[in-house]
Amino acid sequence: MIGDARSDLPVTITGLGAYAPERVLTNDELSQMVDTSDEWIMERTGIRERRIAADSQALSDLSLPGARQALEQVGSDGSDVDLLVVATVTPDMMFPSTSAILANELGAKDAAAYDLSAGCTGFMYAVVQAYGMVAAGLSRRALVVGGDVLSRILDWTDRSTLVLFGDGAGAVVLEPSEEAGFLAFELGADGAGGEHLWLPGSGSRKFEDPDKFVKMNGREVFKFATRVLVSSAEDVLARYGATVDDVDVYIPHQANVRIIDHATKRLGIPSDRVVINVDRYGNTSSGSIPLALADAQAEGRLRPGSLVLMTGMGAGLTWGSALMRWTQRLEAPPAEPAPPGQARAKTTGGSA
Ligand code: UT7
Repeated sequence: MIGDARSDLPVTITGLGAYAPERVLTNDELSQMVDTSDEWIMERTGIRERRIAADSQALSDLSLPGARQALEQVGSDGSDVDLLVVATVTPDMMFPSTSAILANELGAKDAAAYDLSAGCTGFMYAVVQAYGMVAAGLSRRALVVGGDVLSRILDWTDRSTLVLFGDGAGAVVLEPSEEAGFLAFELGADGAGGEHLWLPGSGSRKFEDPDKFVKMNGREVFKFATRVLVSSAEDVLARYGATVDDVDVYIPHQANVRIIDHATKRLGIPSDRVVINVDRYGNTSSGSIPLALADAQAEGRLRPGSLVLMTGMGAGLTWGSALMRWTQRLEAPPAEPAPPGQARAKTTGGSA
């Protein structure tokens, strides 16, 4: 699926927030649990550490601080949100949806609320859906959350997946605006590759051990990732009539520094325009792009007029890009460096 944001009603991101749990899990700690090392993980993935949710924290708990922060930026207490989409593969439970749980916690009484599953691309899919509903005039203020608690579905004895992932969530508010924010989108899926990254024991096909853990064919997913990060970005840029030279801020899915470097080089985007935080968070699945957006905001890289390219990829196998012209100067980050477990962008808790 590909298209321009052609609606007469421009739509943009007006609020942004993120949160990652306080517990930092280092590569050295992982090497005490499985046969791995800091050297291997850094060289193959660029990941230095990741955050892990407390036993008491489910996805809605990780989502709430970022959602509140995003809403604060638009002066909302949550009651006027009329659409709430949570992109995740690790909801609090199969039902009720995490969106409905969050809508209740935020006091969004009139909101349509549902969860969306598109692997690590979930946030991109959710943004495009919310864009469509706001552009069509069905929603006036939409809250899109992307987040995952992957630590719950990891096999803690499997070094091939354990070292890659982390927990975190982020949120954006989408609203009509005076000028264009979103410009073009591209989304896709290739179900034939589904078995390369899957959670086979998690649904109506089978709901039992031992298939309750993530299984992945890392090499296949690597090849897929390097291909689609490039093709999706090129397609969405061409659709809008832009080139990589026009891109001011590039936010790729934070899976692996090697994948990001590969895509960045193939696309020809200068490295100083790329946002990377996988070294600190690992792969947080649907949380990855909003956490990186929040970091870009905290570093003052999102300026009005900046052309922002976001591309996700993940289980499905899926991919998706959105191109937007940044329209709002969001709340400035705190000047002082954040202590471990605290927000770089301002959050109401530990954070991103
Ligand atoms: O959102 C999408 C999520 N998924 C991804 O992004 C994953 C994409 N794939 C990748 O990032 C890479 O394929 C990995 C990081 C998963 C693996 O890197 P690789 O360079 O493709 O390594 P490999 O799978 O070819 O494995 C090389 C060796 C193997 O040993 P042998 O067979 O050569 O003796 C593995 O058993 O590294 C071994 N290995 C490890 N060694 C230490 C695999 N995992 C580990 C580990 N520590 N954690």
